[in-house]
Formats: sequence, structure tokens, C-alpha cells
Amino acid sequence: KKVVLAYSGGLDTSAIIPWLKENYDCEVVAFAADVGQGDEELEGLEQKALASGASECHIVDLKEAFVSEYIYPTVMTGAVYEGQYLLGTSMARPIIAKAQVEVARKVGADALCHGCTGKGNDQVRFEGAFSALAPDLRVIAPWREWDMVSREDLLAYLAERNIATTASATKIYSRDANAWHISHEGGELEDPWCEPTEQVWTMTVSPEQAPDKPERIQLGFEQGRLITVNGDALSPYQALVKLNQLAAAHGVGRLDIVENRLVGMKSRGCYETPGGYVMMAAYKALEHLVLSKDSLKFREQIALEFSHLVYDGRWFTPLKDAILDAAQSFAKDITGEVVIKLYKGQATAVQRRSPNSLYSEDFATFGADDVYDQRHAEGFIRLYSLSSRIKAIKSQQQG
Ligand code: ARG
Ligand code: SIN
Repeated sequence: KKVVLAYSGGLDTSAIIPWLKENYDCEVVAFAADVGQGDEELEGLEQKALASGASECHIVDLKEAFVSEYIYPTVMTGAVYEGQYLLGTSMARPIIAKAQVEVARKVGADALCHGCTGKGNDQVRFEGAFSALAPDLRVIAPWREWDMVSREDLLAYLAERNIATTASATKIYSRDANAWHISHEGGELEDPWCEPTEQVWTMTVSPEQAPDKPERIQLGFEQGRLITVNGDALSPYQALVKLNQLAAAHGVGRLDIVENRLVGMKSRGCYETPGGYVMMAAYKALEHLVLSKDSLKFREQIALEFSHLVYDGRWFTPLKDAILDAAQSFAKDITGEVVIKLYKGQATAVQRRSPNSLYSEDFATFGADDVYDQRHAEGFIRLYSLSSRIKAIKSQQQG
């Protein structure tokens, strides 16, 4: 029997390798996805997996696909969970799970395994994807099965088996990083009255420490896709890396929130999404130039719907395709440039232009114009408010 494990090299998934072999009498194939979490996490991963007892280790580079096939489409929908969270972890789970299934097919595995806890969203996202892509494969979720509860338990378990680990008994935060963001949960953050200290944040400088001078950067979009930063043509992943560098230096993209998990409980999380925050601000600035009132209203409805779809682990569904089709259709017109001013934690659109702009200075001006006849407004307003007028007349007659 063979199991493919979503392996991170951390303490949890390191303990899972021997645990699977002992409890399922199987061969364990480690799988890790490179979604832009950084070299520190990926370095030496294969040796580590093999030293913990895995028979093979597959590391799959998903960086460009993650940005172009998951992040860009989500940006086009405008999705932001509960008005705040930019969905960094939520968007990454489906692409990781999909690549894991592909490895399972390649090595002829019977089962898939992940190290998510039974209290979180991630288990739902992994297994939601597994259900849609590989209903025939068994799913093993050790955290819902074993009775280890603490890091001490896991360390003791590995020590008994002479498996070396560099993990320590105290790890303050549960973090999840990729090209779009890093999340921080746990530790003293579990108290929502406790303000995060600077040691929480790893990606951005604090707005207080950020330069006193603003920096302006230009983003170029074509059909909804970011294609240039400050005039340089970059791949989707490279463009995001560049935006992260620029925005992080100005303390942009920090978030400290309480959110509703799908499993019912609230959780407190701190997030850093510097480049993503800038990309979404620029995208929205173009949308406001290009989309009509009706289109924008519908796009806002899509955003709400899609934010829950992604958060709730429903990526591989027909609804995802339907919403993305609608979003792409609007995105076809989202071409142009936006200048964003970065300053002490803020990212503000200060210039925007598009060949598809519906903005007309001729019409909008407060000065004199010769395209708009103000007398037309009278008839429009009379009919537009006719039902109110009829109701008021009736109540006057009765009163
Ligand atoms: N609360 C966020 C979400 O559900 C972040 C989860 C982070 N996951 C983790 N295993 N550390 O998307
Ligand atoms: C986990 O690692 O399972 C907790 C975070 C989450 O899934 O929401």
C-alpha cells in the first residue's frame, strides 16, 4: 500500500511519516508544493523526508500556475472574505491538493494524507478537492485519529524512533506562507484583546518604521492580468514578487482580524499580503473607470459569492467555473495603467487610465459643457420617482 502525504518538513508532518507506516502498514511518498513560500521552507526537504522514513519525495513547482490560474482569476472576481481577508491560504489549498492527486496517480497510490487539524478550514479544502478529483482514493487525517495533542508528544514520538528533528518544543505561531501572503495564528494571538507585537510580522516593515517619503509605482494590466510593474514586463509570479518587495518596504498589507471558520468557530489571525493588497487596489481603480453601474454591482455580488466559495473549499465545482466565466467576461475590458502611492501602510490609487474607460470629462465636468442637456434630467426624475409620488398622493387623499 502507498500513501502520498502533503509534507511541509515541519514537526507535524515529520511525525506523520512513521505514524502512517506503523498504523497503515504502507509506503509513504512525501509531496511538497512550491507555491512561493520561500527557500528556507523547501531547503533540504527531500533529505528530511527520507530521513523521517519516506520512500520518495516529490517537490512540485506551482509558483507560476498558482498566480496565473488561482490568484489572477480570484482578483478578477474581487473576492475578499468577510470584507477583510485576501484568501491567501484558501486559494493555495486547491492547487496543492490537485498536484498531490497527480503525484498519487503517478506513483500508483491508494491514499492521500494531510497534516491539517480537525478544527480548521484547511482539512475541508484539501478533502473537498480530493473528493472532486480523486473520489476513489482513501483520505487519512492523522490529527483526527491519533491521540497526540502537543508538540512535546510529537517530539517524544520521533525521539522514540530515533528520527532526528530540528523542531523545538515551543513554536509560538501557526504560520502559512506562499507567494500571496503569510498568515499567523495561535500563541498570544488567540486572545483578541492582545495587540500583536512586532515579532508576529515577518514579511512587512511596520508602518511606523516605513520611509517618511511616499513611493509611486505603476501597474499595467491587460484584460485583467497584471503584466507590468514600473514598466517592466514580468511573469505573473515575478510581478507579484516585485509588488511584495515594493509594498512590504512601506508596511502595506498588514491585517489583524477575527474571522468565521467554516467549522463554526471564530479565529483570530494576522495576515501580511503586501503585493496582493496593491494589486487589488489597482485592479479596483481600473474597474471603477471601466465598468458601468450595473456591471460593477453584479461584480460586487460575484465577489461576495466567490469569497465564500474559495474560503469554504469549493474550488473544484461547477459554480467556480460559472463565477469565473462571468468575472473573465468583465475582466476583458480591464486594460490600462494605475499609479499607486505607497506610504506608511497605505496603498492609494492616485492615477488611472484605460482605453476602455467610460469616464468622460465632457459629461462629468462641473464647468460648461455642450453634450449634456440638464433639462432631460427633469423628466427622468419624474418617472424614476413616480411610484413614490403616487403613494404620497394617495396618502394625502386618505389623510
Ligand atoms: N485562517 C486562514 C484560512 O483559513 C489561514 C489558515 C492558515 N492555515 C494554517 N495551516 N496555518 O484561510
Ligand atoms: C490547521 O492547520 O488545520 C488550522 C488552520 C485552519 O485550517 O483553519
